[in-house]
Amino acid sequence: MRLRRCAHLLVEPRDTLSFDLALVAAGGSGVRHATELVARAPHLRDDVVLSPAEVATVFAVSSSQWQALDELERIHPPPVLEALREKALLVVEGTHAAARDERVRDTHWRAPAAAMHYSSRWQGVDTEAALQSLPEDALRDHLGAAPPPVRERTPPTGRVPLPQARATALDGLLDRRVTCRNFDRTRSLSLADFSSVLYRVYGARALTEYAPGVHLLKKGVPSAGGLHPTEAYLLVQRVDGVPTGLYHYHPVDHALEPLRALDAAEAATLARRFVAAQAWFVDAHVMVMPTSRFGRTFWKYRNHPKAYRALILDVGHLSQTAYLAATELGLGAFVTAAINEVDIEEAFGLDPLEEGPLAVTGFGPRGPERHEIEFDPLNAVWPAP
Ligand SMILES: Cc1cc2nc3c(=O)[nH]c(=O)nc-3n(C[C@H](O)[C@H](O)[C@H](O)COP(=O)(O)O)c2cc1C
Repeated sequence: MRLRRCAHLLVEPRDTLSFDLALVAAGGSGVRHATELVARAPHLRDDVVLSPAEVATVFAVSSSQWQALDELERIHPPPVLEALREKALLVVEGTHAAARDERVRDTHWRAPAAAMHYSSRWQGVDTEAALQSLPEDALRDHLGAAPPPVRERTPPTGRVPLPQARATALDGLLDRRVTCRNFDRTRSLSLADFSSVLYRVYGARALTEYAPGVHLLKKGVPSAGGLHPTEAYLLVQRVDGVPTGLYHYHPVDHALEPLRALDAAEAATLARRFVAAQAWFVDAHVMVMPTSRFGRTFWKYRNHPKAYRALILDVGHLSQTAYLAATELGLGAFVTAAINEVDIEEAFGLDPLEEGPLAVTGFGPRGPERHEIEFDPLNAVWPAP
């Protein structure tokens, strides 16, 4: 049997505090402090807790060279090696864990980026429950004053005034771009508007063969390296002529690929889960999960320190374009980073080693009344109270 350490491994010392009456009786504060060593590796589904001996041993084993078990047992305590094998941080040649780890290597992740991505995915997180457990004024009382909204580098007299921007239609559009938290449950989105927004954000305007075997898409949004690695996975709830369900958008054919039909209750349950129970987004007529295909970008930017950042920036451009495309049609739009990535991956049958959602966006007609807060100080969408 031959083993090696998995490709990427983050070990995070995680502190927990608990209260113990016995410590008070002994004359102390009662606060018990413990540090857990929590390991996260991309090829594993869950975090793994390690002992200090396991941490010392796992990093002493090569991640590039396969080594025979009996050879390793001459250097390291056999029970510790066995525990690390069971936790699949030392992978055994020919096993399922080793095959998954091989795929991580083949994807050319940069180690800190892999740690960042795979340690920030949520499953089953309910932000509504978390909010309800916070007292009303927690933000103001606990955080104190925020840093000022503007960084000023010179006194007012030292500033060079610029001419007023000439107002164009784009200004009106930008003024009306207000994150929507009041979707209209009673109306459906027209097929024409649904199709237009998808095309403007994700649709390919040209397909070119840049080099033999290297095809590039031209879209309305920029993308690092021109690679457009972001897929659009959709949860459709109320669109004329489109049955409720899960879809993938084909950017070249400008077509939907149906993945799973849902009834209205199932769709609402998934919508709530995708946005970590943010009730104000659940009624969005369409949710689009911008999902990065890691292999496409890392094919070019191998083990590159900026590659993961480029994926995130790509999604930011897509999100803003979705806001503008929706706003132009008089629709509301939103983006959220508070999402349950693992639930989304499971619903769409995505392998997290291959592709991962980085946000949830959505759009649809706004309701006639504002029940949930929207930030519209210009009264561009809602009349002044
Ligand atoms: C990266 C990102 C993450 C966001 N996450 C959330 C979120 O979790 N929940 C939410 O209600 N709004 C979210 N928003 C929307 C912001 O709250 C919103 O943009 C901000 O309040 C300003 O309002 P405006 O978009 O109407 O100008 C997010 C926006 C961005 C760009």
